[in-house]
Amino acid sequence: MKLRSIELAVTGAEQAATFLTDIWGMAPAQVRDGIHYLRGSGRFPYLIALEESAEAFVRSTTFICSADRLAALKQSVAAAGLVAAPTVSQDPGGGHGIVVELAEGELLRFLVDAEEVAPIEGADLPVKLTHVVFNSADAEATGHLVEDALGFRVSDRTKGMVFVRCNDSHHSTAFARAGFPSLNHIAFEMQDIDAVMRGIGRLRDHGMVPAWGPGRHGPGANIFAYFIAPFGPVIEFSTAVEKVADDYKAGAPEDWTWPDGRIDQWGMSDKDMAGLRKAEERFRHRRQWEPASIDM
Ligand SMILES: [Fe+2]
Repeated sequence: MKLRSIELAVTGAEQAATFLTDIWGMAPAQVRDGIHYLRGSGRFPYLIALEESAEAFVRSTTFICSADRLAALKQSVAAAGLVAAPTVSQDPGGGHGIVVELAEGELLRFLVDAEEVAPIEGADLPVKLTHVVFNSADAEATGHLVEDALGFRVSDRTKGMVFVRCNDSHHSTAFARAGFPSLNHIAFEMQDIDAVMRGIGRLRDHGMVPAWGPGRHGPGANIFAYFIAPFGPVIEFSTAVEKVADDYKAGAPEDWTWPDGRIDQWGMSDKDMAGLRKAEERFRHRRQWEPASIDM
């Protein structure tokens, strides 16, 4: 299982695409049916899709899996009683599979037979997405749900988050104990710490400073720098997330505490709590498809 992409509806898709290419550092992939697709240096045809809309919302978050895994997912999703439907992707790379709505409206798409593309060598681009995090009314329940219904595994629980993996990366998603459901943030994997720092520099050239970072997290141990994008969401440069073994023992909130005044390993940056909180409320989940039987 691999996290591939997020599909967003935004106000000002063209300006958002311009920011992500000219400043954030992505490469344009294509514009198809008015949707702007942007890619990184890795093998995925795109990482983020931007569709123009009067209101901002999350259309879907897309994972790539094997045919066997998809067959198992169909059964476990149906057994969990989740809303779902078969789907054929119209996005670059194509593919087909299922789209699933979790209990709080999160829309996850699982595709097989999606094509990849040649990587881009020697360019200073994000490589891929490393995680997409959601806010939840009940993150604990959602953690259990994705274990049962999707075969994901909870890697760690903290006071603020339930971190979840779908492969050997410590987390590909997480659910924040926010009290409401929405998109929390989108994290782009950078080649290394220098690429993260160059990214911070690029944004600084355009008058933007991190809302939090640079720093290094506890769970996952990844390096981070969070920004509030001009088109609304919280986006992150990240690198060096921990790889974990199958038998990784999930930590509990009491295992992940900080000394007074610290909320990351380095303690070198302030956090714009109010600004981040506001940005994290902007993108809600909105289903645009009709539920249908997936056990076919
Ligand atoms: Fe993150």
